[in-house]
Amino acid sequence: MIVTSRNGQPEQLHVEADITLKRVLPRLDAIWSDEDRSSGLARDFQNRLIAEWPRLFRLLYTLYSGRYDFFYHLEEILYTAARGWQQRSDELRAQDDHRLNDPTWFQSERMVGGALYVDLFSENLKKLRECIPYFTDLGLTYVHLMPLFAVRPGDNDGGYAISNYRSVDPRLGTIDDLRELADEFRAAGISLVLDFVFNHTSDDHYWAQHAQAGDAEYQQFYYCFPDRTVPDQYERTLREIFPTVRRGNFTWHDGMQKWVWTTFNSFQWDLNYHNPAVFRAMLEEMLFIANTGVDILRLDAVAFIWKRMGTNCENLPEAHILIQAFNCLAGIAAPGLVFKSEAIVHPDEVVKYIDPHECQISYNPTLMALLWESLATRNTRLLKKSLSHRHRLPSGTAWVNYLRCHDDIGWTFDDEDAAQLGIQGYDHRQFLNHFYTGQFPGSFARGVPFQHNPATGDMRISGTLASLAGLEQAIEFQDPKLIEMSVRRMCLLYGITLSIGGIPLLYLGEEWGMLNDYDFVKDPAKAGDTRWIHRPKMKWEYLQNFKQNVDEQNGSIRGKIFKSIQRLISLRQKLPSLSGQQMDLVPIDNPHVLGFVRHFEGNRTLILANFTEEEQRVPANNIRTGGLGRFFQDLITETEIATHDDLIMQPYGLLWLERI
Ligand code: GLC
Ligand code: GLC
Repeated sequence: MIVTSRNGQPEQLHVEADITLKRVLPRLDAIWSDEDRSSGLARDFQNRLIAEWPRLFRLLYTLYSGRYDFFYHLEEILYTAARGWQQRSDELRAQDDHRLNDPTWFQSERMVGGALYVDLFSENLKKLRECIPYFTDLGLTYVHLMPLFAVRPGDNDGGYAISNYRSVDPRLGTIDDLRELADEFRAAGISLVLDFVFNHTSDDHYWAQHAQAGDAEYQQFYYCFPDRTVPDQYERTLREIFPTVRRGNFTWHDGMQKWVWTTFNSFQWDLNYHNPAVFRAMLEEMLFIANTGVDILRLDAVAFIWKRMGTNCENLPEAHILIQAFNCLAGIAAPGLVFKSEAIVHPDEVVKYIDPHECQISYNPTLMALLWESLATRNTRLLKKSLSHRHRLPSGTAWVNYLRCHDDIGWTFDDEDAAQLGIQGYDHRQFLNHFYTGQFPGSFARGVPFQHNPATGDMRISGTLASLAGLEQAIEFQDPKLIEMSVRRMCLLYGITLSIGGIPLLYLGEEWGMLNDYDFVKDPAKAGDTRWIHRPKMKWEYLQNFKQNVDEQNGSIRGKIFKSIQRLISLRQKLPSLSGQQMDLVPIDNPHVLGFVRHFEGNRTLILANFTEEEQRVPANNIRTGGLGRFFQDLITETEIATHDDLIMQPYGLLWLERI
């Protein structure tokens, strides 16, 4: 990078970087104890720092060199990183070594994830330890615990309004319980995934409290404005994320007599990363969390972390630079740590966060939305169009493929992809919202609206996998055929997220086909947020019934769903072709059927999926060309398929074909 020096001459930034490193290294030396030196701990840190320095310096320089106190903050950032490494346990450091030698460990076909709220799943962290055999039995190697840190009283946005990143919500346990759980996960081969909620803190976080008390230093941690002048200027170009909570993006604070930037709920105060002190402080929190034993950090709400007047303040270039700077420092102070991006935005923007130097893995919201879209339309053309140019990722990275999570479904496909197929984006989203709220005639879905914005007509959808896939309606109609179809829909979607390339992620409870929980409205802290409808309390009786072979109607549906998903997971974990990301669509002369090939190191699997409740014909030559053979075995039904005739796929049929 070329920078312009004071006298206007272009200058290589690396010269500045070298000079700066020479200045800071000796000062940093003071933090190491004799033991740190003799054990090699200090040396390892220094080696990584030197190796990463040109990149780190460039990133921080880009963000903060305009500050008069840049050098001070730079030094503080390095001290913070060094202390983070110093405080890391020996076990984690050993794992770091391992992962430095195998940086793409998360691309393995063995990887399968699950996400859960501790209170709703097992009540607390201690009891969660007893669930480890359940996880391993299901085949999980990755468990995301939804935010479990200390939160504000009352509504806390499902844990996303954090008042202290260093203590666990006392209802769930303690930091030591978390550390012990992390150790046990590690011993059981399960990666621990926790959130790094770094866009905002709760309004009762220590920093926010100091800001409220009038402390100017802490008011600079947030975006505070004395009147509407500046907020109104920003509002001209901002979206509204939670329009039913409050209009606009700012909240008046009576005590401070100031407007505060609050992208999400009014009690979630956006952090001001223009201030390097915020970056340093959050780095410290990040390393603290990592050092409890986290393998993967889920970076929450990445799109919103940088603001600039006149823009929509989403996905700005500085947001990427900021994450890269965190990534770089993690690489120095916690090198085994992997970042996962939560960018639920336009697909062109989602991919920009995915890079070995930024977030190695990312939610795949476009695939998620388009799988539901194909299920509603019984047509895979938009899905195929999107996959054809949006699935590929840089090497060393992976998608996290999911069907449902704790959040709503937004229809984040690209309007241009749709337009090329003659589909009008706005109208199509209206149709999908009608379909998934069950208003469209013949719909099987039982979703509910989330954040309907009457001004724009925008809306998202809440609902569990099973309720959206038709199980709720089918049970209500007591119709065995509809029940069967809904179970097949769920398995069809799983068949794809488990095979298409990347890490499949379940929202736990899905494996039993949990239905919408309409009781959330009884809790005043939850009533205003329909996402609670798809965060039901785990029903362990399903497992009990399954184990005891209780053969009552409901029990057998649950058991069937569980067994099917468990089986698909175990099949996936035996198929080396499903490792990595390489996926090629197979042209199928039938718009209702999705076909793709996965290959890895010479292994090859052909996947076919019928998105309709009718039989579908797949021309024999499509399979011969796609599968490079004439005879195949379907791994799911364990039947043989010869391609002298066209293939007839069952309603919602799913095939994983290997050549024989
Ligand atoms: C993320 C979380 C969501 C939360 C929001 C604000 O999108 O997934 O649940 O409401 O961030 O933290
Ligand atoms: C995210 C997404 C939005 C999601 C919200 C939490 O940032 O933009 O779709 O609903 O936060 O629900």
